[in-house]
Amino acid sequence: MGSLIRSRRFPTQVPLRSLGFVLVAAFCFACGKDDAGQPKVAATPPAPVAEAPELPAPAAVEPVSEETRATYQWYCAQCHGLKGKGNGINAKWLTVPPRDHTKAEYLETRTDQQLFDAIQQGGLAVGRAPCMPRWGNTLDEETIHALVRYIRELCECEAL
Ligand code: HEC
Repeated sequence: MGSLIRSRRFPTQVPLRSLGFVLVAAFCFACGKDDAGQPKVAATPPAPVAEAPELPAPAAVEPVSEETRATYQWYCAQCHGLKGKGNGINAKWLTVPPRDHTKAEYLETRTDQQLFDAIQQGGLAVGRAPCMPRWGNTLDEETIHALVRYIRELCECEAL
């Protein structure tokens, strides 16, 4: 056996390959040793915990302005309700109930663009009922974007 192994090492290409293996093996062992150094303590490493404080940062998205809330109360609440629950004073007269803007189950299946289009161009534009009016002639794009963000606040949900 020994002589067989030795005879395999004589051709020039084989030692090069073996060298590669040795190097890879050396690295693996090196990693292994580092990990194995404090395996059980490091098994639940502090790294993810250290990253955790970064998570609240995206949540620091500013709440929409009072102006946006007022816009919603003025233009949307009579159908969608003062708190966006779809129970505005006008709701019972509509053939299709106004969307409940606090309902995440539905709203998280919609993209922000779909909500934007529904507001700007009306329900029909996104395959919804025409009793959701179009607001593109009344509200500018910035206001509509803000309303979409407000709806995301109301549903406490994220876009699809
Ligand atoms: C005249 C009543 C009425 C008013 C006023 C109204 N909506 Fe609606 N809205 C509806 C109805 C009804 C639906 C549900 C359409 C459907 O489910 O087919 C709806 C649906 C929506 C949707 C969801 C679209 C979807 O994907 O189902 C959004 C977003 C929306 N309205 C935003 C607004 C905003 C913002 C305002 C104020 C600028 C507003 N609506 C004003 C009646 C109204």
